[in-house]
Amino acid sequence: MNLEKSLDTIPIFRQVGAVADQMEMETYLVGGYVRDLLLNRPSKDIDFVCIGDGIRLARAVSESLEEKAPVSVFKNFGTAMIKVGDWEVEFVGARKESYQSHSRKPQVESGSLQEDQERRDFTINTLGIAVNQGNFGELVDPFDGVKDLKRKIIRTPSDPDITFSDDPLRMMRAIRFASQLKFDIAPDTFDGIISNASRLSIISGERIIDELNKIIMTDKPSYGFKLLFVSGLLAEFFPEMVALQGVDSVGDKSHKDNFYHTLQVLDNVAARTDSLWLRWAAIMHDIAKPATKRFNQKVGWTFHGHEDKGARMTPGIFRRLKLPMDERMKYVQKLVKLHLRPIALVNDKVTDAALRRLLFEAGDDIEDLMQLCRADVTSKNDHKVKRFLANFDKVDKKLQEVEAKDQLRNFQPPVSGDEIMAIFDLKPSRVVGDLKEEIKEAILEGQIQNNKSEALELMYRLAAKKGIEKKTNY
Ligand code: CTP
Repeated sequence: MNLEKSLDTIPIFRQVGAVADQMEMETYLVGGYVRDLLLNRPSKDIDFVCIGDGIRLARAVSESLEEKAPVSVFKNFGTAMIKVGDWEVEFVGARKESYQSHSRKPQVESGSLQEDQERRDFTINTLGIAVNQGNFGELVDPFDGVKDLKRKIIRTPSDPDITFSDDPLRMMRAIRFASQLKFDIAPDTFDGIISNASRLSIISGERIIDELNKIIMTDKPSYGFKLLFVSGLLAEFFPEMVALQGVDSVGDKSHKDNFYHTLQVLDNVAARTDSLWLRWAAIMHDIAKPATKRFNQKVGWTFHGHEDKGARMTPGIFRRLKLPMDERMKYVQKLVKLHLRPIALVNDKVTDAALRRLLFEAGDDIEDLMQLCRADVTSKNDHKVKRFLANFDKVDKKLQEVEAKDQLRNFQPPVSGDEIMAIFDLKPSRVVGDLKEEIKEAILEGQIQNNKSEALELMYRLAAKKGIEKKTNY
């Protein structure tokens, strides 16, 4: 690859080089941008390291730009950032750094380029490309990063114990890069993760979940989760998922391993959608199986109520993992709760009322629920898989028929509480709620149609039975 030519596609590299020349500062493009350039992947951030004061260089570069860009200075980190078009361009002076074991606060001293490269996380992220006029486009690769890119290996440039204790989040990053790039982790680097796994406890939940979500968004998230599990990291922040692993047997009766089943469901969902929250629903759908597991001599292993208990566990897990507690959590919770319902609708004798109820409860998420259910079919027996999927096609069809007839997906009560209070001159009270509920039930049961005139008629009949009288002037 002609690096000089590749860099010339964006003017910022020559521009920074020219300013650095004037300041007589050696300057290099480093980190993710170089890695992604060599891998032919898109990149979002541009990082420069200079031998000298990075903040001064950033200010001078900003001055030199036609359209002045403000410089954001992060004094604690000794870095500065300028936004150039869509690019975030970051500057830092080369440094050697050592962290103290009890805190994340680094002691920073300026250093050489090689010292700076050595304190970075992985060899594939240590690569530098010179941007000064004299050596523009020259690759600096003291840790064989290019070789590791070719061999598809994640490896720390120094002793893994040092790299990981400097910043334990790097253990998550190793697995995230392995998942995103479809790389292996070098054996000594992986051993380093195993022996330092407990150090993840000093990392904030926000930083951990950021990496986890990136792993979940990869093409085959099961790969990352297996690495998280085997390394011991998963147990550090998501013990409920670790508890899914394992098979119990009594006599000749055993159940499937719910951890590997969950990963298969997750991969199945990932093959069809980029939705992070549908992927989270896959991760959570059987989370309460360990807590609800029972053995019964006649039927073998059961997990009765795991969908309800799983839905109840969802807010606690989301809160602890620093996931959002808003409608995204509610969506995951709803899919967990409903994930067995479509299967129950396969039977030919299923009533329209049962279909209406599911449509009412799932609302606009009914398609996602059906996707989750299809992904949940993980039998190794092709014949069985075909049969189950064909059954879901039948359920889909029935749901569509009922939806076309009754439009229950985003059910709005045809008579509102305010109307009921006005018609009967009632204050907000239990009886208003009861009337509304009885009308809704009658619609779901198919006793009346989902429209205003039938709802009003029923309301008057119900009110009369309860001895409630209409307001005279209404
Ligand atoms: N880095 C590091 N240790 C970390 C985070 C970052 O050594 N915990 C270094 C790596 O050299 C990395 C660079 O800082 O390449 C920039 O970090 P970042 O922007 O977080 O990652 P990228 O490598 O750019 O990758 P991505 O944008 O995919 O996160």
